[in-house]
Amino acid sequence: MTTTTTATPRPGAGKARSGSAPAIEAAGLVKSFGSTRAVDGVDLVVPTGTVYGVLGPNGAGKTTTVSMLATLLRPDAGEARIFGYDVTRDAVAVRSLVGVTGQYASVDEDLTGRENLVLFSRLLGLSRPASRTRADDLLEEFGLTDAATRPLKEFSGGMRRRLDLAASLIATPPLLFLDEPTTGLDPRTRAQMWDTIRRLVADGATVLLTTQYLDEADQLADRIAVIDHGRVIADGTAAELKQSVGGSTLMLTPVDRADVARVAQIVGGVLGDRVVLSAEAARVTAPLHGTDLVPDVLIALRDKGIEIETITVAQPSLDEVFLAITGDKEA
Ligand SMILES: Nc1ncnc2c1ncn2[C@@H]1O[C@H](COP(=O)(O)OP(=O)(O)OP(=O)(O)O)[C@@H](O)[C@H]1O
Ligand SMILES: [Mg+2]
Repeated sequence: MTTTTTATPRPGAGKARSGSAPAIEAAGLVKSFGSTRAVDGVDLVVPTGTVYGVLGPNGAGKTTTVSMLATLLRPDAGEARIFGYDVTRDAVAVRSLVGVTGQYASVDEDLTGRENLVLFSRLLGLSRPASRTRADDLLEEFGLTDAATRPLKEFSGGMRRRLDLAASLIATPPLLFLDEPTTGLDPRTRAQMWDTIRRLVADGATVLLTTQYLDEADQLADRIAVIDHGRVIADGTAAELKQSVGGSTLMLTPVDRADVARVAQIVGGVLGDRVVLSAEAARVTAPLHGTDLVPDVLIALRDKGIEIETITVAQPSLDEVFLAITGDKEA
């Protein structure tokens, strides 16, 4: 991926009904399919200019929620506003303000990547020369220049995903819904996608991102809603969610493995807490309540002449958070 940024202004941004309206404001959203209550009373507030992560396992209701916010599905109950516009009553205005990945899935398999982007640009009302320029800019930005002249049917999954995101950016919408943008991508392509998302936000976009990957939400999202069985079961910053599960952990490895028992004794003495000693890994692990006492631990070790090879303060991972909240094995 290149570092080219598109300097195109976000035309939709000026159309917001009120400058202070959040990008998304949803209350009590409900959607059922037959007897399945896919979304069961979801509330969300997403401030403009932020990345909001919606995290949940298969079938949690992520796509259904996004579809209602993007006017692709009509809610059974509840309401939602996008930059102050109601998704049901002002659907046309909302559509001009949002981009959705996956929306362009029905592209022509025989057309090349470039032809597809030109086609969508033309459909969005750009002139022929403007469409070509926009297509070329996006192909460059998404590292798809080599694929530009190949028909879509020859694209890999990662290439398709990037073309899909590129297509959703033609109109430079101020709010983007990215529904599992990196599921199934290899680590390098995932990292490129993350860079792209960060750049979009730096350029002023607001992003609602659904994901099953806890590290993805941790990396990208300012705030995260954890959803399960159609309900928001927890929300907050990644740090807040981690804190709700428990404190962090201090891990120490002495240079001389033979010191591990003494290290455990000293650490236990300073922290006054239960210390776990792994003689095999030559590692001492202790729960931390804040980081205030970490310097005291280090000073005590130095005073006893013990050299430390590694010291780590680890927060619980979002995986642990998810397990703790849902109590589920499926996460
Ligand atoms: N068009 C539909 N008709 C019937 N049931 C549906 C439909 N769309 C979704 N569902 C059901 O609603 C629930 C929520 O589905 P949804 O697609 O919103 O989940 P999701 O969180 O996006 O899952 P995934 O991670 O697999 O994409 C599931 O039980 C699903 O089977
Ligand atoms: Mg989904």
